[in-house]
Amino acid sequence: LVGKDRASELYLKIKEKVSNRVGIDFEKREFSQNCLPRKIIEFISFANKDPRIVGIIVQLPFPKKLLPRSLEILGAIDPAKDVDCLTPINFGLLAMGKSRFLPATVRGIMAIIKNFKFQSALRVSNRRMAEWTNSKIVIVGGSNIVGKPLALHLSNLGATVTLCHSRTKDLASFTRTADILISATGVPGLIREEMVKKGVAVIDVGSPRGDVDFEKVVKKASFITPVPGGVGPLTVVSLLENVFKAAKKITNS
Ligand code: GUN
Repeated sequence: LVGKDRASELYLKIKEKVSNRVGIDFEKREFSQNCLPRKIIEFISFANKDPRIVGIIVQLPFPKKLLPRSLEILGAIDPAKDVDCLTPINFGLLAMGKSRFLPATVRGIMAIIKNFKFQSALRVSNRRMAEWTNSKIVIVGGSNIVGKPLALHLSNLGATVTLCHSRTKDLASFTRTADILISATGVPGLIREEMVKKGVAVIDVGSPRGDVDFEKVVKKASFITPVPGGVGPLTVVSLLENVFKAAKKITNS
């Protein structure tokens, strides 16, 4: 964790609590927002070499000051321990359809899409590519940790994906076409009732407040995830699944 961020601190507390519950040792290391990138990279390099450590994440966002150095810092993580898919190498592999780890939030969203019963026309499965072609997926938000990797992953599975962002001109003209609408912008209330079609499945990735006007959109949607209690808890579980996956790889090699 770099710098002070109340939301990040809360997320890490939850990650620590759930880790301990499932038998994963969790260690938080804090750096001040004024610390030199070299110090963070040094620590990551030690963690890379420590055989007791199987997974490393940097809780995002970085403080503004460190943003220009963020790629350098994230890139220092050993890709084999990169359980949140933060490194350029793992992002590249994901883009090319050879992902080692999905970002935890993306894995959580995939669990929702695969496991919840959408209307039959929208039912999708990664085993049958033909079923992906039935639904139009619109993602709002192009972050490196959610929107972009999710769009790439779904596209690799055979889905047709439209990637928008919070300032897309006439955003509603895109969102209204969606059978599955995923919003991950961090702009509370961005998605309003008139921006979705009846029967849409909505996945709200906004946090700590939802991107979606839940009270109104719930009336039109066939499926909708709440905030809190929707994607958030699945992100934590997905991260820990990635940790087990990383541990298994180390044990097998
Ligand atoms: N900040 C908010 N959500 C996330 C997440 O899923 N992973 C990381 N690393 N940082 C975050």
